[in-house]
Amino acid sequence: MACQIPKFFLRRVCQPSSPFQKLSSQAPRSLRASIRNSPARRNYATGESGPKPKPGQSPFKIWPFVAITLVGSGAYMLMVKNRTDMASTDKQIAAPKKDVPTFSPDDVTVIFVLGGPGAGKGTQCANLVRDYKFTHLSAGDLLRAEQERPDSEFGTLIKDYIKDGLIVPMEVTVQLLENAMMEVVQKDKDRKGKFLIDGFPRKMDQALKFEETVCPAKFVLFFDCPEKEMQRRLLERGKTSGRTDDNAESIKKRFKVFVETSMPVVDYFESQDRVVKVVATKTPDGVYKETRGKLEDRLGKNL
Ligand code: C5P
Ligand code: MG
Repeated sequence: MACQIPKFFLRRVCQPSSPFQKLSSQAPRSLRASIRNSPARRNYATGESGPKPKPGQSPFKIWPFVAITLVGSGAYMLMVKNRTDMASTDKQIAAPKKDVPTFSPDDVTVIFVLGGPGAGKGTQCANLVRDYKFTHLSAGDLLRAEQERPDSEFGTLIKDYIKDGLIVPMEVTVQLLENAMMEVVQKDKDRKGKFLIDGFPRKMDQALKFEETVCPAKFVLFFDCPEKEMQRRLLERGKTSGRTDDNAESIKKRFKVFVETSMPVVDYFESQDRVVKVVATKTPDGVYKETRGKLEDRLGKNL
């Protein structure tokens, strides 16, 4: 089978910012001249100086070229191999570039719902759906559904990422969310969409991509809960949830990703005064009371 080099890879390696090209073009003129005139270079270039070859011996030493070719090819193949998985993901799921988001924030309300794993996001979203007619879209649920879809190209990829508590490449999640929103909006064209997007954005690239291409969000509803309490809840849930990531090992990894990758997203929205924070340690009813109060303060009685 012919080996095709992904175009984006060629672009990356060939663009002027490639570290290789930068190095050679930035070398000072004197250094480049000294490389040109160095004895080693003259030996190979003209064969005029240095030891004379013995009779029957080629004046050209072949082994350095062989060694360089082998090392170069090896390194290249390794780079291609390392990029293969990501490349196929990039290629297949890259959405066409858009100038404006699909939905206008004048027509559609988006509230991101964040909090560590086990903070109670799903429970509180269910309450808000009941009382304020939001549509609840859980990024994790959409990913799990896509993972189970028999024809999905991303099933295995999603499965591996979820098991390890890692963030699935954003193009997949953003596209799943956009499709789900479109379905809701098209069903009832007169009704303005009101979305709670739960467990999203978990990483800065998701936040930027979504707001740029799908819809700017009003704010983040953030459920703040200590790790110990979240761990207790998740282990309890794990007894019946059937989720591959509700076990002690995966939970540990999910907490790490939350602190290192997702909290910076909350900080980013906080810096724009776009976070509504709720203490999530109380009972579900207690947490909901605070949630309602704070959302009504921000959006008015009818949300
Ligand atoms: O939100 P939930 O706990 O259901 O998410 C489960 C897993 O789905 C996460 O640990 C992560 O692997 C994946 N996920 C993601 N990006 C998101 C939401 C979930 O990669 N925005
Ligand atoms: Mg959830």
